[in-house]
Amino acid sequence: MALAVAAACRHEPLPEVARAERDAAAGRRIFDRRCVSCHNANGDGKTIVAGRFPYANLRNGRWKSDGTLASIERQVRLGDDPMPSFAGKLTDEEIRQVATYVLALARAAGKGGGAEGAGGR
Ligand code: HEC
Repeated sequence: MALAVAAACRHEPLPEVARAERDAAAGRRIFDRRCVSCHNANGDGKTIVAGRFPYANLRNGRWKSDGTLASIERQVRLGDDPMPSFAGKLTDEEIRQVATYVLALARAAGKGGGAEGAGGR
């Protein structure tokens, strides 16, 4: 019995990781369409529109919020002048996917965000 539980646990994280990767891949396509005009393809935010807003840099590990997935989803949903609100333009699932990708960008740059960054590399 104990053995069976241990075996089950070993396999459990895999579907989760696969899902996060799928979300990030879908999120990247959304980001490329809706966000790069301000945040740049690499997420550093150094564009004419957003360049003077330090928090438009999504890869420096500094967040206006606590940098968790939920906070990033909220920012995308509500916007924050001059960033537009994406509520009604993106579905809840798309918002989750693009937020997952934003955190992946920060992690790729070596800066995890808030609690989400704890397991990052
Ligand atoms: C019209 C330009 C514009 C577009 C389009 C835009 N943003 Fe932003 N975004 C900004 C600016 C400017 C800020 C910084 C606001 C501030 O400093 O208060 C920001 C801030 C953010 C933040 C908060 C970062 C933090 O420090 O907490 C996140 C997350 C974010 N944007 C994600 C996105 C995503 C994802 C998209 C696409 C779905 C997007 N943005 C589209 C301009 C934009």
